[in-house]
Amino acid sequence: MFLDRGRSTVTNLLPDTRRLVVALMLAQAGTVQAWDDGTVPFVVSPEEVVDRMLRIAELRAEDYLLDLGSGDGRIVIEAARRGARGLGVDIDSSLVARARQNAARAGVADRARFETRDLFETDLSPASVITLYLLPEVNLKLMPRLLALKPGTRVVSHDWDMGSWLPDETVELRIAEKPVGADLHSRIHLWVVPADARGSWTSEMPGYGGSWRFQIAQTLQVLDVSAQVAGIEMLVRGTRLRGSEIRMVLSGLVAGHAAHHLFRGVLRGDRIEGELTISDGEERRTMSWQATRTTK
Ligand SMILES: C[S@@+](CC[C@H](N)C(=O)[O-])C[C@H]1O[C@@H](n2cnc3c(N)ncnc32)[C@H](O)[C@@H]1O
Repeated sequence: MFLDRGRSTVTNLLPDTRRLVVALMLAQAGTVQAWDDGTVPFVVSPEEVVDRMLRIAELRAEDYLLDLGSGDGRIVIEAARRGARGLGVDIDSSLVARARQNAARAGVADRARFETRDLFETDLSPASVITLYLLPEVNLKLMPRLLALKPGTRVVSHDWDMGSWLPDETVELRIAEKPVGADLHSRIHLWVVPADARGSWTSEMPGYGGSWRFQIAQTLQVLDVSAQVAGIEMLVRGTRLRGSEIRMVLSGLVAGHAAHHLFRGVLRGDRIEGELTISDGEERRTMSWQATRTTK
């Protein structure tokens, strides 16, 4: 019955009662479900999930983590315990107060900050890691803003995916103490914001094959590459774009000699800097590789 009265009635309850109410409401559901007004309720990510979220993001001390809808602050606080800095934003000021207390208690208040703010009015650009435990429609609404972030920014979502933007990695955990959901499983998805690799690229390698040409079509992080060396078409496989890191394997004849070519590089603007490893089954050698974008 309180569902009809929506979020305001539930948020007026004492925190523990409210949590219980949420748990009961969601017991039959797969995971977090929206309030009847479409907003996201407060449900915590269990500690084991928080640990895996930070591990899949490969969190480092130099990272700045942003938790959108930070609840009791546990993700930002755990990131700060691991040496990073972070900001949690939540629309519910009582949760922000609780998160600040938790950060002070954990001795990380200088690195774990919390603000009462709507996540849709939050500047995402300073973050190197963004964590979400929201709802599918909220993730989808955020998606264009996430894709516009600096290439290499890691986005980690507990349970919900991002529709057509398939995750770079997903892990599934059995969580005995999960507060919602009948199957007691959590899914953790990672996306790495892809660089823009589209266009025609050229590499001049006078010592090996001469002029190399690459045409790259791109949908999100998925590349479709065709390549020619000295006008001869190569077989392309094993392409991958992870943030700004690009790799591809080209097989075929170079100067009449069959070989596999593993290109690995980092894309910055209209340049790729990296290396090429050539192997013909007997020998293997590595040389530096640079490519320049000629048209987008
Ligand atoms: C499922 S809880 C996740 C809490 C925490 N991130 C975790 O994983 O334990 C979602 C949180 O998002 C907050 N929230 C919902 N809509 C929001 C909005 N528009 N802006 C900021 N926070 C919001 C809720 O108050 C709630 O604390």
